[in-house]
Amino acid sequence: SVFLTCRLKNSIGRKKFFNFSSDIVRQLSQQVKQNESFVPFMDVIKFRREEARRSILVQVQSAQSFKELHSYCNSVGNVRQMLHYTVGVEPLNFIVVEFASEKDVTNVLERSSYLEDSQVVPVQSQFLWFRASNRKLPKLKQSKSAILSIENGNQCVTPSEIVNLLSKCDSVSEQMNVLYNSTKLNDLGTRLRFLTARQVENAVRGMFPKAKAYPFGSSVNGYGKMGCDLDLVLRLCDDKVKNDARLMFHCKGLVGSERTASQRNMEAIGDLLQLFLPGCSQVRRILQARVPIIKYYQQLTDVECDLSMANMSGVHMSDFLYIMGSLDARIRPLVFTIRKWASEIGLTNSSPGRWITNFSLTLLVLAFLQKPINSKPILPSLNTLVKLAEPKDSYMTEDGINCTFLRDITKLKTPTENKESLETLLVEFFEFYSQFDFASKALCLNESVAITKPEHCALYIVNPLERGLNVSKNVSMEELDRFRVEARNAAWILESQENKNENWGILSIFENKRKASSVVNFAFANKHGRLVEVSTLFEENTDKPVEYKNASVK
Ligand code: CTP
Ligand code: MG
Repeated sequence: SVFLTCRLKNSIGRKKFFNFSSDIVRQLSQQVKQNESFVPFMDVIKFRREEARRSILVQVQSAQSFKELHSYCNSVGNVRQMLHYTVGVEPLNFIVVEFASEKDVTNVLERSSYLEDSQVVPVQSQFLWFRASNRKLPKLKQSKSAILSIENGNQCVTPSEIVNLLSKCDSVSEQMNVLYNSTKLNDLGTRLRFLTARQVENAVRGMFPKAKAYPFGSSVNGYGKMGCDLDLVLRLCDDKVKNDARLMFHCKGLVGSERTASQRNMEAIGDLLQLFLPGCSQVRRILQARVPIIKYYQQLTDVECDLSMANMSGVHMSDFLYIMGSLDARIRPLVFTIRKWASEIGLTNSSPGRWITNFSLTLLVLAFLQKPINSKPILPSLNTLVKLAEPKDSYMTEDGINCTFLRDITKLKTPTENKESLETLLVEFFEFYSQFDFASKALCLNESVAITKPEHCALYIVNPLERGLNVSKNVSMEELDRFRVEARNAAWILESQENKNENWGILSIFENKRKASSVVNFAFANKHGRLVEVSTLFEENTDKPVEYKNASVK
């Protein structure tokens, strides 16, 4: 696989990326999708964006329409893959059709039409529906190479299936790998997210031909699970300024301050989504936030979206998380297990608030893996990646955020010598944070060490790309205490388990229904080396703490 990577990298050559022979595209596609070997983040993004340009999404009557749709599409272009999925309980059926070239999509769209109905907005996009026909289709050419899948590719494993899968495992480490492999975002999920991005990009293309909508966050950073939200940043012009250009475009000046102007632009994009774009529903404008966003649900792809028009730092942050996750096969299963644990016991919550977010949790895991675990760290510091950066890794956002760090980790010479099992890492994670001195220390992934807190905040995690910011500023003292209590509790459960009972291993730390109102006790040494005992009283049959006692200091 190392040989394959080199060959691909050489043949990719940044500029020629999309001029591959179809064999290479297939190989790369295999690599990107099966995580066989490292492909740089931006190459994955380019590949997926290009794949979306060669694809359409078609609503069909049922999975049975598969053959007929295949015949039709293959008569217009060269179908490479078709993937079926459903949305909703009374399921609507859809098929993603991937063609061999973008020209095929252009041809398909040219032959498509609108309903004769003055009640609809006649918008054209890659989102279509397949009308039933009584006419017999002519004999059509067969595509030998097309991969057809009529399984419902959007289906998540149910909670009871997960319990079933995990209870059959032989070890906690195996459970963690199984959890990761059975819940991570699949190929179809990724395609649907890139098609969702493509729809927005296409919608503004007339005025902004260079517009790009980049997915970022868990959809692309390697920590996304099936059904995860799509974070999108829409850039109206992502082209480099041409210093030697003689003819310049006339453009309107911004009205009001930059922030007011950006809020008004976002409002206009919100209207566009709401009024014109098929499938975009529940459009909510959250324009007063530090980073204004538009939330909406794309019902045809079944994806919840957060659209912003801010800078690209979120995308580079996703690159950083992606790189960290690619450095060792244990990272993603560990992050998945900890995210799942936090969600099951109610430490994280899908609505914003004073609780810890998945993003902060992920950074906590990575920071933990940067410290020596049994004297050997697993991950390098961000500063190490910055020092190894090559000229092509140099990125600066327009508002001056330096996002320069090594992108191609095959250049990192020393793989970790740490060979601890996933189970050990999980227990050590819980131990580490149940004793961490949150009162005076901040976590800093740039230097791989805890630093003195720059300002008072319950939890301080230095934003690796904007060092003056705390990514977990929102977290309250109460929520941090809860995190610590639950981490202690989880470590204790995992360490004290001897036999495999019904819900053993990681299943036992996911249990959020306590049998009766219960008290969880733990003790930790504070920064003065004194022992502090904490007891938490939980409400009956829930995971809701009703009382903390930071009682005796001995
Ligand atoms: N982000 C950031 N700085 C922050 C918060 C978020 O750079 N203070 C970026 C990160 O790249 C993060 C992305 O925005 O991954 C999306 O944030 P969020 O949706 O909160 O996290 P996800 O990683 O996408 O997790 P989830 O599955 O919960 O959506
Ligand atoms: Mg997200």
